[in-house]
Amino acid sequence: MISLPTYFIHISDTHIGPTKDYRRHGFASYPCAQKMVDIINAFPHRPDFVIHTGDVVTNPHDDSYKLAAELFDQLDVPIYFATGNHDTAKDIRKFLKMGPKTDLMDDELVYRFDVNGERFLVIDGRADDTLDPHGNISEPQLEILRRECSAEGPPLTIFLHYPLWPINSTWFDSHMMVINAAELHDVFLQARNRLRGVFHGHIHMPLQMVKDGISYTCAPSTFAQFAAWPGATQPAFVPDAPGYAFVQLVGDQTIVRQHTFEREEFSDEDTAERTLPQAVGFREPIRKVVPDPTKTE
Ligand SMILES: [Fe+2]
Repeated sequence: MISLPTYFIHISDTHIGPTKDYRRHGFASYPCAQKMVDIINAFPHRPDFVIHTGDVVTNPHDDSYKLAAELFDQLDVPIYFATGNHDTAKDIRKFLKMGPKTDLMDDELVYRFDVNGERFLVIDGRADDTLDPHGNISEPQLEILRRECSAEGPPLTIFLHYPLWPINSTWFDSHMMVINAAELHDVFLQARNRLRGVFHGHIHMPLQMVKDGISYTCAPSTFAQFAAWPGATQPAFVPDAPGYAFVQLVGDQTIVRQHTFEREEFSDEDTAERTLPQAVGFREPIRKVVPDPTKTE
């Protein structure tokens, strides 16, 4: 059987504030998130869905989530969210619409969904505030993940907010990782033969890492990127552009294309008129590969 190609856009760390002119670390987050939405809506190939791997907002404040909800409602494809350390699962459930899914826990935001025979699993790594900004996977959640990540099953792609493994930068390695990463990685290893990859955010940079044959990919933030050089003992930012990844699941290949876009700034002169990205082939349905039973090759 030839499986259908599946496309998704991976975005992360939008850090929307309570007002559109909110700035974090000197960068305006909302205008960049708006541009990201415009880019997705004009994307040359319509993605099957968008995954946002967390830090939708900076503070779990109703006004921030309402702004985020208004913004992501503009998307004309389904979107899914993972809980970031700046989010709460409760707020994401309350304010943000997601595509069809099967919830696996009531309190933590853990769920799965299927598209074109592909399985997607979203994990909630938010730790207690005392451990923040580290991530942690609760024991009840690990139990569920052990069942979901069995050796047999459809091709599997996993999303969470946090990286598991050190990135060789002192401050990040001692503050930003999943504390029980080894246990979680062991769960992933059960499914290694069907695991397409693990996608995360949190460290605001395009980054790829392979461990024990499992690919871990971080999407850049849609508004500001961290510097995390070897030996750095404090977090800092670099002026690198906002970005996202276009991920293609084609046959047995997982193709990750990371893109950047020009930073948008908010100013008082801003009007409601936005320059929309040029649509190329927009609205054309993706041509699905369907095997022709009359052909033998
Ligand atoms: Fe984060």
